Amino acid sequence: MKNKIELLQDKIKQAHLGGGAARIAGQHKKGKLTARERIHFLMDEGSFEEIGMLVTHRSTDFGMEKEKYPGDGVVTGYGNINGRLVYVFSQDFTVFGGSLSETHAEKICKIMDMAMKNGAPVIGLNDSGGARIQEGVVSLGGYADIFYKNVQASGVVPQLSAIMGPCAGGAVYSPAITDFILMVENTSYMFVTGPNVVKTVTHEEVTSEELGGASTHATKSGVTHFACPNELDAINHIKKLLSYMPQNCEELPASIPYTPGNEVREKLNDLLPQNSNQPYDIRDVITETADEDSFLEVHKDYAENIVVGFARLGGRSIGIIANQPAYLAGVLDNHASVKAARFVRFCDCFNIPILVFEDVPGFLPGTDQEWNGIISNGAKLLYAFSEATVPRITVITRKAYGGAYDVMNSKHIGADLNYAWPSAEIAVMGAKGAAEIIFKKEITTAENPEEKWLEKEKLYSDIFANPYRAAERGFVDEVILPDQTRIKLIKAFKMLENKAVKNPRKKHGNIPL
Ligand code: HXC
Repeated sequence: MKNKIELLQDKIKQAHLGGGAARIAGQHKKGKLTARERIHFLMDEGSFEEIGMLVTHRSTDFGMEKEKYPGDGVVTGYGNINGRLVYVFSQDFTVFGGSLSETHAEKICKIMDMAMKNGAPVIGLNDSGGARIQEGVVSLGGYADIFYKNVQASGVVPQLSAIMGPCAGGAVYSPAITDFILMVENTSYMFVTGPNVVKTVTHEEVTSEELGGASTHATKSGVTHFACPNELDAINHIKKLLSYMPQNCEELPASIPYTPGNEVREKLNDLLPQNSNQPYDIRDVITETADEDSFLEVHKDYAENIVVGFARLGGRSIGIIANQPAYLAGVLDNHASVKAARFVRFCDCFNIPILVFEDVPGFLPGTDQEWNGIISNGAKLLYAFSEATVPRITVITRKAYGGAYDVMNSKHIGADLNYAWPSAEIAVMGAKGAAEIIFKKEITTAENPEEKWLEKEKLYSDIFANPYRAAERGFVDEVILPDQTRIKLIKAFKMLENKAVKNPRKKHGNIPL
């Protein structure tokens, strides 16, 4: 027996060494942790249980049968994060550059199956040179098996992807299907084809970092939701993100204990500038309203004209979508529409109530917007809100103009409650433009057209630049004092906690993708 125990201990030791001490040192030299170190920092102490530690590849081409590493380049298993069960895979760059073989893929699929059966999130720590080149098509098949599982798991359990090294070729599509991507600055990149192929095909000279580094994807493409300065920060972000989510689509997000106190927020009465065309930072409204230090912004540096993120209100997890008057006046454009639509759908998948702060002058006009599909992109947001069955509340802080009024979680598309501050302006368009159109004849034939225009602008503004027309109709349920916002919202979300709405039976809807 002693020999047998020693044999097992040897095998475990070998597995823990991955691709060997030299390659581990190489990984550290690049400022990267190893696959096991990442798991160590991610999971609650002593909770991780590995599955498939002794799996090896089956490849025999190119002398591969002589080069086998137990685990085959990926550490898989389950454990706890802050006491909650999660499944994790962590690619080991020290073994064939973390490349994906047939068996490597099987290991990932196995824990994804377990996660779906047992209703717990899947976290992928990606660090891989892509398809295992020596294996050819079986490796490609392995990728497709993972993509398929990602889609099956989508909306069933939360899936988070941290990119902690290279992620190239079709490999990018698994993270892209998952709910959230986190990238590490300077040590990770994602692209479908790398700089060499780009140069050959388009003659562009670009570095890996420029083409697909964390800041590129956090600002230009929106592929990543978080760009983290280092791996530990990415790991901490994963833990924080998870804290707002339930384990699966059948459960509610965990609340944290909350002791009611003085919920009046006087600062909100003075946040808006006197002139309604002046900007202010909607984040100030969010942080004043939400529980202290609870706001976690998602997609912070992408489409900054809309702010999305998680927060808590009276201890309950909520998703916030807010127009940002401090950036492009908070206008809705292509990127903002898609960013918000995806966030709304995530919240709805996982029973996270939605709060909207609205201050939007409308959709951004122009050829760039039209030619890039603002019609179908705006429709995505409209669709996402309309099909969401979670509790939904809107607070109109200032402008709610045009189609954007309808789209931003109006009562007409299923919001449960719609509040407005006294500063709200709810109309088809701004008073200046409106006056120009409906009083065109009077203005152009007037002795002093400028003066006439101002007079008519004031007339339109007096009638519509307020929340009362909408309140008379019941489109706004209540006009509230800004300092009462938090109190109203805590009560309202509590009132809505047992909301039960079902969309009509269907296979699935056809969101205008
Ligand atoms: C097998 C690989 C590998 C791969 C790297 N290695 N990528 N082995 N298959 N795909 C091995 C290397 O041989 C090396 O082995 C070790 O991993 C580390 O690689 P280095 O090149 O020394 O590291 P580095 O300089 O950091 O460069 C990392 C890299 C580079 C940028 C990832 O290795 C690279 O470009 N690899 C190929 C990437 C690629 O083209 N993959 C296929 C993409 S297409 P030793 O023994 O020296 O340690 C694809 C299709 C998927 O993935 C489609 C799905 C639909």
